[in-house]
Amino acid sequence: MTEEASVGRVEEVKSKALDELGSIESLEQLEEWRIAYMGRRGQLTQILRGVGSLSPDERRSIGAAANKAKATLEESLTQREQALKDAVVADLSESGAIDVTLPGWPAPLGGLHPTTRIVREICEAFTFMGFQVVEGPEVEWDHYNFEMLNIPKDHPARDMWNTLWVDYTDENGETPMLLRTHTSPMQARIMENQSPPVRVIVPGKCYRYEATDATHEWHFYQVEGLAVDRGITFADLKGTLFEFARRIFGQERKVRFRCDYFPFVEPGVDMSIDCFACSGKGCRICSDTGWIEIMGAGMVHPKVLEAAGYDHNIYTGFAFGMGPERIAMLKYGIDDIRLFYSNDLRFLKQF
Ligand code: PHE
Repeated sequence: MTEEASVGRVEEVKSKALDELGSIESLEQLEEWRIAYMGRRGQLTQILRGVGSLSPDERRSIGAAANKAKATLEESLTQREQALKDAVVADLSESGAIDVTLPGWPAPLGGLHPTTRIVREICEAFTFMGFQVVEGPEVEWDHYNFEMLNIPKDHPARDMWNTLWVDYTDENGETPMLLRTHTSPMQARIMENQSPPVRVIVPGKCYRYEATDATHEWHFYQVEGLAVDRGITFADLKGTLFEFARRIFGQERKVRFRCDYFPFVEPGVDMSIDCFACSGKGCRICSDTGWIEIMGAGMVHPKVLEAAGYDHNIYTGFAFGMGPERIAMLKYGIDDIRLFYSNDLRFLKQF
């Protein structure tokens, strides 16, 4: 069924529609109104549908009038809809149900992970002293992780690193690939690729076949340092690391060096700082010793220099390696290393 079409009929429908629109009070009524006039079977829609079967003259005049009426109704609809929505908000805020002057929800911003934070802080302390930051591969060859560092196959020193081997056998029946157990392989990689002087700092992730507990994780970060040049002595090592400790833990820190063994340094040391919690008197944090071990270090072993192609009669250097999580634990008073990588927002949000 189509409406009988005439310009008069179009005007009639339009003014009826506009009349009714004036008394509409809700968005539901407004939708009913839209359907009644402009829906699929709406009154104006019917007229428009009938236009096609008219004579060309009628088609032109009635078609134009109907299209104009449609545009008018659509515009009035939009205006009425906005007015109704504004009224709803005004009502709610007047009755106190919502306070439109309140700020919106804050967009949650992430923060830096405590490891990222401390690694950056450590790197900054060393770049300030002229070191350059470089990174290396996490999947490493036995060659760099051990051989080049004066730790030959079947040498008992390998027991110092609990290793995760990659399940890959080469043509000689060897399994030469592993997840690096420390960042020290970068010492060899850098010296192979660069002639002295070298001053680098290497942050990166390491992995060990390790049962986890409050002070051990099977994956963790290390920051390695290496300086090689003519005439570098143990005094340079001490001065550099002392300056580092004071930057991270405070100007009043004291440091202590004790002999330790790592196959790629000679002599090798471990470095401790006096306990910042009790100033060396002895407390829970320092296990009543007054000192806290923070890293291994030493003078680069002549065999390591030689393997990488440096003449050990001309060049000497020092190297060190530390665990940034451990440094962060000391600095921020964190008592379990497992917190770093358990993705607990209650922990992470504190940084
Ligand atoms: N790579 C050693 C470790 O993982 C630390 C170290 C680095 C010691 C450099 C001496 C020199 O235990």
